[in-house]
This record gives sequence, C-alpha cells and structure tokens, in this order.
Amino acid sequence: MEIIHKPVLAKECVDLLMSRPDGVYFDGTLGFGGHTSLILSRLDANGVHIATDVDEKAFNYCRERFSEEKRIRLYNFNFDHIGIISKLESVSGFSGIFADLGVSSFQLDNTESGFTYRENSPLDLRMDKNLKLTASDLLNSFDESEIARILFELGEEKNSRKIAAEIVQIRRVKPFRESADLVDVIKRLTPPNYVIKSLSRVFMALRIYLNDELGKLEKFLQHSVDLLEKGGRLVVLTYHSLEDRIVKDVMKYETVSCVCPRDFPICKCGKQVRLKILTKKPVLPGEDEIRINRRARSAKLRAAEKIV
Ligand SMILES: C[S@@+](CC[C@H](N)C(=O)[O-])C[C@H]1O[C@@H](n2cnc3c(N)ncnc32)[C@H](O)[C@@H]1O
Repeated sequence: MEIIHKPVLAKECVDLLMSRPDGVYFDGTLGFGGHTSLILSRLDANGVHIATDVDEKAFNYCRERFSEEKRIRLYNFNFDHIGIISKLESVSGFSGIFADLGVSSFQLDNTESGFTYRENSPLDLRMDKNLKLTASDLLNSFDESEIARILFELGEEKNSRKIAAEIVQIRRVKPFRESADLVDVIKRLTPPNYVIKSLSRVFMALRIYLNDELGKLEKFLQHSVDLLEKGGRLVVLTYHSLEDRIVKDVMKYETVSCVCPRDFPICKCGKQVRLKILTKKPVLPGEDEIRINRRARSAKLRAAEKIV
C-alpha cells in the first residue's frame, strides 16, 4: 500500500515531545506511522515506542512497515485505553505522549474506509468497525432535532435544521445507505459555492459523533497526565475548534493550584499543579507546509510538561 498521508508539523511535534532518547514514548494515533517513524529515528537502543490506532487498516499497515523494528510495540486499541496499554507493557511513566487527532488522508480518500464524500461509498464513518452505530443507522433512526443538533454543534453547519428536516422526509421513502444519498441532500440545499464546505462539515460532524471523538479525547488527556513521568511531555495536534478547546482546557486546568469557590477563605481542594504549558499560543504550520499539505491548514499544536 502506498503511503498517502504526510505527517503535519512533524519536526515541531517531535522536538516538543522528546526530551531524552532512552525514554518510553506513546503515539495514540499511529495512522501511517509518519510521526512514529520520526520518533523512532530519535530513540536510542534503550528507548521504547508504544503506538496504537483504532483503525485496523492503519494498524495492519504499520505492523508491516515496522516489522523489523525491535523498539516498537503496536496496538489496535482506542487511545483512551492508554492505561490498559501501560499495564500490559509494565510502563511506570511515559517520557512523552502524542496524539494527532482526526482521520488520515488515506481514510478520507479511500472509498473502502467509508469516510469520503468524493466518491460513492457505504455511509459508515466508524473508525472502529466494531462500533454498532454507522452513519446510515444514525440518519435513518435519530430524531430530526438530534440530527440538527449534531450537525450544528459538531460541524458548525448553519443549514443544520434544513438538512435534518430533508433527511427525515427522504428516509420515509428511501433509507440512507450510501454517501451519495447524503451528498444529494446537501447539494440540493446549499448554494454551489458552499457545497464542499458544507459536505466536509456534515461528514465531520457525523464522524465526531459516531466515534465519540470528543469524549475519548477528554478521557485520553486525563489518563495521559496521570501516566507521564516527571519531565514527560504531552503533545497534541488538533484540527477542529472543539478538540482544541478540550486540549487547551485540560492543560490549563492542570496548571491551576486551587479550584475552590472564590468565596472560600482558605483552600480546601488540595489541588496540585501538574503541568507547565510549553506553547503559550498554539504552534501553527507555515505557508510552505500548507502549500504542500492542505490538511495542515487547520492544525494547532499544543504541548505541556509534567512537573511533579
Ligand atoms: C491524523 S491521523 C494520524 C497520522 C499519523 N500521525 C501519521 O503521521 O501517519 C489520525 C489517526 O488516528 C486514528 N485515531 C483517531 N482517533 C483515535 C482514537 N481515539 N484512538 C486511536 N486511534 C485514533 C485514526 O484512525 C487515524 O489513523
């Protein structure tokens, strides 16, 4: 299989992530191994790299790609199972934990993956094919108001109510089965100049909902802070404002020493400051990178270091 995913901000991510070459590192979003291969290139013989991807195709691809590599351990788990993985690998603390969220260019462009709207494919959108609910199940069974809410809150789609109403009308006659069924609805309701934007927003919103991407991210970040060793780094690349908000909030919360109500005369919460932020503002890709990799245009990179 040809690799068609270019890692975003690769050098910047790995520079922030790795403070020692003999550490234990974790990549929660292995994908096609772009960031992982750079991490491996900076590890010495004592270093260990553990990486996981919930997508079976990405996992199988990397198993092949890194089959000769002794320092790597690969999993086909959701990254919110980082705690279980650390136990399986007897890791007491990670030197660096990394995630590059969302889906890869391969998943987006490959019809079999069921993520694309560019060519007709089954309306699926699950990264983990063991999940029960597919995008077509959702469109064929959810209430109109719930569909509208998902499209608006997770995709910032302004036409969400109109699209949801039309979906509910159409499914009475013909259930949604393929991406073209949904593409037709959006094309009909959207001015030509906005069709592509609207399609990406709607497909992204459904994908985020079906895979519980925001819930999994929050859980992963909270476990990650617990699992870093002192001096260990947490580095996260996001492509969506809600994801970035979660990363920013979790990191910020870990830099605060007290969360007692303002009117408490003395601190009762006993909260500990566990992180120091390394990126006061998120690191963004430059024009050169965006020119050769369109996916990079919405990327934001945040990093923090564990101090206790
Ligand atoms: C942007 S791609 C990562 C690309 C990778 N950094 C590279 O350079 O090849 C995101 C990958 O993370 C996986 N993924 C997304 N959410 C995940 C989760 N909660 N747990 C595990 N893998 C996840 C997707 O299946 C996809 O392969």
